[in-house]
Amino acid sequence: MANYDVIVIGAGPGGYVCAIRCAQLGLKTAVVEGRETLGGTCLNVGCIPSKALLHASHSLHEAQHNFAKMGLKGKSPSVDWKQMLAYKDDVIGQNTKGIEFLFKKNKIDWLKGWGSIPAAGKVQVGDEVHEAKNIIIASGSEPSSLPGVDVDEKVVVTSTGALELGKIPKKMVVIGAGVIGLELGSVYSRLGAEVTVIEFLDAITPGMDAEVQKTFQRILKKQGMSFVMGAAVQKTEATKTKAKVTYKLRKDDTEHVIEADTVLVATGRRPFVDGLGLEKLGIEMTQRGQIKVGSDWQTNIAGIYAIGDVIEGPMLAHKAEDEGMAAAEQVAGKHGHVNYGVIPGVIYTTPEVANVGETEQTLKEAGRPYKVGKFSFMGNGRAKANFQGEGFVKILADKDTDRILGAHIIGPAAGELIHEICVAMEFGAAAEDLALTCHAHPTYSEAVREAALACGDGPIHA
Ligand code: NAI
Repeated sequence: MANYDVIVIGAGPGGYVCAIRCAQLGLKTAVVEGRETLGGTCLNVGCIPSKALLHASHSLHEAQHNFAKMGLKGKSPSVDWKQMLAYKDDVIGQNTKGIEFLFKKNKIDWLKGWGSIPAAGKVQVGDEVHEAKNIIIASGSEPSSLPGVDVDEKVVVTSTGALELGKIPKKMVVIGAGVIGLELGSVYSRLGAEVTVIEFLDAITPGMDAEVQKTFQRILKKQGMSFVMGAAVQKTEATKTKAKVTYKLRKDDTEHVIEADTVLVATGRRPFVDGLGLEKLGIEMTQRGQIKVGSDWQTNIAGIYAIGDVIEGPMLAHKAEDEGMAAAEQVAGKHGHVNYGVIPGVIYTTPEVANVGETEQTLKEAGRPYKVGKFSFMGNGRAKANFQGEGFVKILADKDTDRILGAHIIGPAAGELIHEICVAMEFGAAAEDLALTCHAHPTYSEAVREAALACGDGPIHA
């Protein structure tokens, strides 16, 4: 069998980016992938297809709610669900084929099948054993289910099944008010489903800025979503077309039942390491089933690395990509590095939600004095013109040095705006640096500048 410098296991955003960087650095590289197409969860059943459905359903929402206000009259479009799914599949195809092209261009071999590691330096795919000086595990994650909840991917679905439902449900129950639940809940709510989100905690999107959580939930409610908070789902009982969801309210232990045509289970994901043979190899794991790695992403076994959702940290495609590039550089004898303090998070609802760095909560816990600069999109001309005046930009800066420590945005294009702040943080910028930077008018970005101004002498349009 061919000998490789590197074999990457898994062709998701962590694995394929890692492989491309390895090839660019002159390493003979192969990727093992058992799916029919490259790109992993993100491109096939995650980020990309959900964005296609978010875009389509947002367009419908605009037509239904805002077109007439702008003088665009006429019947609003009806939904051809089959065509919407075909559009989504086309988007997936374009992206996954794009990775195949990049593999060919970079002379990366695709070893088709599911891989295992019989010993350090060896990767088995089917009956073939390949030799590799370095192995990088990038096998990703899978939805984690709940006890008492049987997923059939038809009536009780994970995000995978939710991307290809037979029809748009009349009633949908979403278990978990995290990123997946709210993005896909938004899709079906805009397409006409009555969506009820059941969440264990008292706030949506755990870990986010508390003000963002409240504003976000208020906006989603206004858009038509219902929430049952502080409720632990006990079980689901499904027939071929319907399901009953039983939950217990934490405050008084009372049990309730709600019916739905579709139940989306969105209660988190867990590392996917099945069949790799890690136990036999003696690879150290964390208590949460993640692969333990050092600062160079190497496991306790020399020459075996791991990146992305299988290791600790947020389960985000871009975190995996950064680790992929950095691990490739480590393998090539360079000094790959990831700044875990500046990894943005984005929820692609309307409005979008984005965050980076510290929250007020984490700063309080650390006892670090900070100041808050906040600016509402109501004071932003562009946002008002586009019916996007809801939400705000909040910048947290060190009280004494003015250095930016974190940012929280809910509003139009939040997922794009956050990067200006990420770059500023990478350069160790002060809020004043952003405030003194000329921002084009009229743009949403001006709201970021105004929030930075609010950390100093004050915003202009507040
Ligand atoms: P999540 O961890 O974001 O949210 C799960 C929610 O379920 C939590 O709020 C939790 O309190 C709740 N929950 C857990 N057990 C429950 C129970 N028995 N009853 C009621 N509620 C319960 O997980 P999610 O949304 O499934 O996403 C998985 C991963 O995928 C996350 O790490 C997320 O960051 C990532 N992802 C990121 C996206 C993005 O960056 N836009 C998009 C989709 C997924």
